[in-house]
Amino acid sequence: MQSIKTKVAIIGAGPSGLLLGQLLANHGIDNVIIERVSGDYVLGRIRAGILEQGLVDLLREAGVSKRMDEEGHIHDGFAISYYGKSYRIDLNQLTDGKSVMCYGQTEVTRDLMDARADKGLSTYYSSKNVVLQDIETAHPSVKFEHDGVSYCLECDFIAGCDGFHGVSRKSIPEEKRQEFERVYPFGWLGILSDTPPVADELIYCKTEQGFALASMRSSTRSRYYLQVPLTDKVEDWSDQRFWNELKNRLPSESADTLVTGPSIEKSIAPLRSFVCEPMQLGRLFLVGDSAHIVPPTGAKGLNLAASDVAILYGLLRKEYNGEEQNATQRYSELALTRVWQAERFSWWMSNMLHDFKDDAGEANNMDQKTFERFMKSELDFYLSHEEGQKVIATQYVGLPYPQI
Ligand code: APR
Ligand code: PHB
Repeated sequence: MQSIKTKVAIIGAGPSGLLLGQLLANHGIDNVIIERVSGDYVLGRIRAGILEQGLVDLLREAGVSKRMDEEGHIHDGFAISYYGKSYRIDLNQLTDGKSVMCYGQTEVTRDLMDARADKGLSTYYSSKNVVLQDIETAHPSVKFEHDGVSYCLECDFIAGCDGFHGVSRKSIPEEKRQEFERVYPFGWLGILSDTPPVADELIYCKTEQGFALASMRSSTRSRYYLQVPLTDKVEDWSDQRFWNELKNRLPSESADTLVTGPSIEKSIAPLRSFVCEPMQLGRLFLVGDSAHIVPPTGAKGLNLAASDVAILYGLLRKEYNGEEQNATQRYSELALTRVWQAERFSWWMSNMLHDFKDDAGEANNMDQKTFERFMKSELDFYLSHEEGQKVIATQYVGLPYPQI
């Protein structure tokens, strides 16, 4: 067994782990990342692409924003198409000048990986049998295997940035954590295509046939989604069937101008709301998807991971520079308030925009048609009043990060 040492052991090289590692390294806080799969595999995942101002600022602070600033697009608004009628949520006007950045998570990850490689920071990709040890003591460590060699990484802290299926959350004994979950009765079928986006801004569509979303990665690459039953398989959806159904769900002026083409990626993702409390035990901190999942409807997954990173990074800095002893013990409490705000918004957006078929009425102790009238009236109220639109816009651009 080979022994190595660092200050912060980071499990997982997704956006959470890489961003935390970069910020810490910039302040001389040594860290090592242990990742289960290869770097190419990490970059092969297609994820969302809307960045809140808080994340944009954090990427700039981390010194990894050059390409984002050159190639990303600022979006001052987005549309909600409600049974064919379009409402523009003017983010800029409704939030005193705020906006979001359209730049793919894959690109953020690539920029962070390149920056980490430039700094020569150590990352153990394709590691096996990662085990967290002694997290409730002053001397935690991580055991893992890499290229046939067994390692023991001794550290001061462990950041569990290893996503929903990682090992970190499960290292907190069951009796010391509580989990909150809502699994939605449908999935999102996503398609990526090298076609110009149907509009300059995103369109979230509520229709009789279910939800659809028109998004993009650049002026030449589009990302579209359709709500589909969980029983559907990707093979059930030829490109032609996808485009036809998308046209059915887009507002007619967009359906008429939609440019179609071959898909370069097609996948179905389930939708889930999930929170683990607390987000820490001893010297282990859960960051990003390892602690919480949101349905993608509010574009909050990556952004919530970023606010966790900002909070943990701020607290670790205070602790390492001697400003506040045990500052990191405040992590979970600080992070969870914002986590639940984003969870609630993503849940609300999902409830408003999807078709729940027969499920929802029963779950709310009323017949389906009564439930549908309530939901219709609720969304109608929010969309047709400025106060309502403000509530949506304020949350979409992202609530402020807590003061550390
Ligand atoms: N050991 C080491 N690494 C692991 C382990 C393990 N046992 N299990 C999982 N991992 C790695 C995964 O391979 C993945 O690369 O941890 C990484 C977690 O990355 P993400 O799932 O991307 O999670 P996170 O970095 O928190 O990113 C936040 O925002 O848009 C959302 O869900 C989306 O990925 C996104 C997230
Ligand atoms: C995406 O572009 O993939 C995307 C954008 C906004 C969302 C979800 C996904 O709410």
